[in-house]
This record gives sequence, structure tokens and C-alpha cells, in this order.
Amino acid sequence: MNVFDAIAQRRSIKKFQDRPVTREEIEALLEAGVLAPNHHLTQPWRFYVLGPESRRAYGRALGDRKARKLPDAEAANAVREKVAAEYEAFPALIAIAMVVSENPETREEDYAAVMQAMSNMMLVAVERGLGTHVRTGAVMEDPAARAAIGARDGERVVGMLSIGVPFEAPVAKARQGATEVTTWVD
Ligand SMILES: Cc1cc2nc3c(=O)[nH]c(=O)nc-3n(C[C@H](O)[C@H](O)[C@H](O)COP(=O)(O)O)c2cc1C
Repeated sequence: MNVFDAIAQRRSIKKFQDRPVTREEIEALLEAGVLAPNHHLTQPWRFYVLGPESRRAYGRALGDRKARKLPDAEAANAVREKVAAEYEAFPALIAIAMVVSENPETREEDYAAVMQAMSNMMLVAVERGLGTHVRTGAVMEDPAARAAIGARDGERVVGMLSIGVPFEAPVAKARQGATEVTTWVD
């Protein structure tokens, strides 16, 4: 598969088949991740490959946050369990983190580099018949979520990448053409 085809075929995949993702597949994604460009070769990425227990704990942390918004205790418990079970069931889940530099310019560049690492991973996943979905949000700073991941002090979790064989192929979402957003400057 050529790179453009992988880019064009990638979708955010929310539903996966039951087939597990192998360690070899995960390692192939990670190897693609660490090849991303990064200024001054800071190599700011840190990856946490979560097993079923830590996936469940992360889902529980997220479920607790959703449950807090519900007045009804029974509904809150149901949400907690639903989200925990959903995360545990992901064939694979990688927390993508970065080392946080004290220098604001480096910090911004490093964040961009880590996102490019994530993009590499998503494209290699497509090439291997896998789907991915990145999720972000304030939950990633929640102490319970960080504990579930095992994130170290001085690291910021920047995305949670779920991975698996797609259950279905979602249609592409409509996008602006490149010409609509491009200015050719003389
Ligand atoms: C930085 C980033 C953060 C995202 N965070 C979330 C998220 O928290 N929850 C979610 O459902 N999707 C999230 N997404 C996925 C986008 O919603 C998705 O890429 C977009 O709808 C386009 O769909 P596609 O990926 O299938 O092309 C995120 C994507 C990016 C790049």
C-alpha cells in the first residue's frame, strides 16, 4: 500500500472485531512512531501499552468523570461499568505521552513531534489492516487516569490510541478540498 492510500483510507474506528492485536503489530506501530521528525532530536514521546487491567482502570477513571455528571446513582454506576468494560475490551490501547520541557518553544515543538509519531502509527496500522481511534480530553490529566497508565512525573499524556481490526469500514467524513484552504503566495 502506498502512503497516500493509507492516508485516504484511514478512519477513526470506534468498533473493533474480537481478534487481539499482536505484540508484533504493536511493536511495528511503535517503530513507525519513533521515526517521526523531532527538532533537536529530543525524541519526546513515551508510550504506555496498556493491558486489560490498566485499560479497565483507565476506563473506570473516565467512567467516574462521566458518572459525576449524573444525579441518579444507579445510572452513574451503569455508566462507570459501561465505560470500564468498553476500555477493557479494546483489542489494544496505547497511551501516548511526552516529556514536558521547561522551555515553551521546545514544549510546543515536542507536542507537534509526538502528534506526528501518532500519525505514523495510525498510517502503519492502516497498512496492516488495523484501525485506530485517538481520544483526548481532560481525563488524561486526572490522577486516577495517570495512575492507570503509569505516567511518570514530568510527562503529559497527549492521546489515547485504541487499536484493532475494524468491525466495519465507516464512510469518509466530508472535508474541504486543499484548494479551498490554500493560498499560493508569489
Ligand atoms: C488530536 C485529536 C484528538 C481527538 N480527540 C477525540 C476524542 O476525544 N474523542 C473522539 O471521539 N474523537 C477524537 N478524535 C478523532 C476525531 O474526532 C476524528 O479524527 C474526526 O472526527 C475525523 O474523522 P476521521 O478520523 O474518521 O477522519 C481526535 C482526533 C485528533 C486528531
